[in-house]
Amino acid sequence: MTDHVNAVAAAGIDLSNVSLVYPGDGRDVVAVDSVSFSIDAGKFFVLVGPSGCGKSSLLMMMAGLQLPSSGQILCRGKPVDNPDPDRAGVVFQEANLYPWLTAQKNVEFPLMLKKVPVAERHRLAVEALELVELGGFTQHFPHQLSGGMKQRVSIARGLVQRPSVLLMDEPFAALDEQTRLTMGDELLHIWERTRQTIVFVTHSLTEAVYLADEVAVMSARPGRLMEIIAVPLPRPRTMEMMDTEEFGRLRSRIWQLIRSS
Ligand SMILES: Nc1ncnc2c1ncn2[C@@H]1O[C@H](COP(=O)(O)OP(=O)(O)OP(=O)(O)O)[C@@H](O)[C@H]1O
Ligand SMILES: [Mg+2]
Repeated sequence: MTDHVNAVAAAGIDLSNVSLVYPGDGRDVVAVDSVSFSIDAGKFFVLVGPSGCGKSSLLMMMAGLQLPSSGQILCRGKPVDNPDPDRAGVVFQEANLYPWLTAQKNVEFPLMLKKVPVAERHRLAVEALELVELGGFTQHFPHQLSGGMKQRVSIARGLVQRPSVLLMDEPFAALDEQTRLTMGDELLHIWERTRQTIVFVTHSLTEAVYLADEVAVMSARPGRLMEIIAVPLPRPRTMEMMDTEEFGRLRSRIWQLIRSS
């Protein structure tokens, strides 16, 4: 890993009474129902909740890719009403890389759209790939990489733009448990240096507690915020912490909330 990576200008996010209604055939779907919370700049914020409770929808609204039906989202005090790659980067559940581009070109792609000069774009892409420990694979094409490696390329693509907020929608869902835990550790290492705000969606409660400063628990659809649980475990986090009483207590508290919804 490279050590010369600097902190980015993290931003706080405020949601007030955010609702999202998808129009349906005769019956509208309330995906998100009046959700309010604030995320302090530089926090690792995790969202959990049953399938279909509106987690991805919330993330898309925070990215400015979807407008709320009502309510407001502010990022660094300014309304989020359009996508802005400097403000927020998104890592989706599927790696969604361009198969005809090398790992490096995939990571460079958003910089090319921003017309970053070629030499600078090469440097930044290689640096981002080194950060996810793929420095030796810059010239590989997606089909030459494993699932976990492809996902790391897409994380590098999210990181390369140095967004103030990194929005990650179940980025490790397709990985085996071991790779998943390792990737979680790698992400924490990166975040300890970049310190950008991270909003991370997961179905794994162990992953949620392991990574988070705070875990927001949502109810079944229509998605409402049930509770925000602070995770006071010290950092750096270690695998041994998973066996502690406190870890188990936090995990079962979240599980109880989800079950009760
Ligand atoms: N584009 C869309 N048009 C209509 N309904 C949608 C659309 N996207 C999502 N929905 C509905 O909104 C609700 C919330 O979906 P969303 O994808 O945000 O949930 P989620 O919490 O991310 O679920 P999962 O954990 O399964 O990924 C669901 O009932 C879904 O069917
Ligand atoms: Mg989702």
